[in-house]
Amino acid sequence: MKIRRCAAVFLEPREEVAFELESLLGGGDGLRRERRWLALAPHIGEEVELEASERELLGRLSPGQWVEAGDLDADVASVLPRLLAEGLVVADAGPDDDTLARWRGRDEAFRRVHWHPLGATLHAFTRWEGVDAVQNSKDSRTETAVEMREVLGVPPVEAACRGDDGSRLKLPRAAANDFDRLLARRATCRNFDPSRQLPFDTFAQVMQRVFAAQAEVRVSDDTVFLKKNVPSGGGLHPMECYLVVQHVDGVPPGLYHYHAVEHALEPLPPPAGEGWEGGGLRAFIMDMVAQQHWFADAHVLVMLAPRFDRTFWKYRQHAKGYRVVALEGGHISQTLYLSATEAGLGAFITGAINEKQLEHAFGLDPVSQGALAICGFGWRGPVMETAELDPAGEVWAKSED
Ligand SMILES: Cc1cc2nc3c(=O)[nH]c(=O)nc-3n(C[C@H](O)[C@H](O)[C@H](O)COP(=O)(O)O)c2cc1C
Repeated sequence: MKIRRCAAVFLEPREEVAFELESLLGGGDGLRRERRWLALAPHIGEEVELEASERELLGRLSPGQWVEAGDLDADVASVLPRLLAEGLVVADAGPDDDTLARWRGRDEAFRRVHWHPLGATLHAFTRWEGVDAVQNSKDSRTETAVEMREVLGVPPVEAACRGDDGSRLKLPRAAANDFDRLLARRATCRNFDPSRQLPFDTFAQVMQRVFAAQAEVRVSDDTVFLKKNVPSGGGLHPMECYLVVQHVDGVPPGLYHYHAVEHALEPLPPPAGEGWEGGGLRAFIMDMVAQQHWFADAHVLVMLAPRFDRTFWKYRQHAKGYRVVALEGGHISQTLYLSATEAGLGAFITGAINEKQLEHAFGLDPVSQGALAICGFGWRGPVMETAELDPAGEVWAKSED
């Protein structure tokens, strides 16, 4: 059997600190500190704790060159079975073993996408599953701005300055036109009105403006570049749009993929398992947005899911590749905010999402396509139950006091 190391792996010497009563009673600082070595390999997506001899073997194997397993030095050969079982070392098409074949397949799939190893590792190990962001901010007492100031202390200054007042070149403030008024009415919406259906045409118009291809450049039959209303690194437009539609006239509630060239919805099966059967779509949405109930009534939720393989086809193992893809999410989100605002709707974006559950529900392989953020849009409700940032009263009537 021939073996080689997996394509990308980083080792982290992790320290975990826990409260320990005995330490406190014994005159110590009350904390127990434990250190261990963890292997972070993006094609695995789960941490693997390693012993010294296992680290040593990993360091001796090439990620490119295959070697005979039987030729390994005796001091490390005994740890090979575990590294093979965990997927950190892969075997060539040798023995008929399901686990080995599965890891070889995962490693090969990872290599085909041309990730930069740091970008891949960041992405793979910052995905959530079952996180309740609302409870977390309650537990850390950082729910409101006042609480944050109390718990976190003074924040860095709100607007940085370089030099003094006298050295500043003051710029003229222009009179507001329609575009300024549109910008001013953009505020993250946290109060949707599920009792009001979104008209089909309004929904379609927002989708067309934000996600549709506006034109195309056909290089050859198999190589096409799209023009959209948002910029994209290399013009590759990797961002796919997956939808959960809740309250749109003429669109049955459910999961969809949006086809950017056809400007069409592709129905997907309902999310299966994980306790969503009983609670229906709303229970699934609550998990999507890490229990942020203020987003759960949005008429349409949009998962931004980049096809990394599309961008990394050009930007192979590129140091900026992942950053470029993430930045594109911001461009799309702002275009969605403004398109929704122009249509009299509210919009939001959240990065607090349970990616692993999303990948599972939408059938995405995280090595080539992942969940990056969730946006949404729909009618604002009549009452602000959850706070929105509207200090100038552009969206909500200002209170008298
Ligand atoms: C990348 C990104 C992630 C965000 N994540 C959340 C979130 O998890 N929950 C939330 O309520 N708002 C989220 N927001 C919205 C911000 O809280 C909001 O933009 C900010 O408070 C400023 O308010 P404004 O958008 O109304 O101007 C996010 C915004 C951005 C750009």
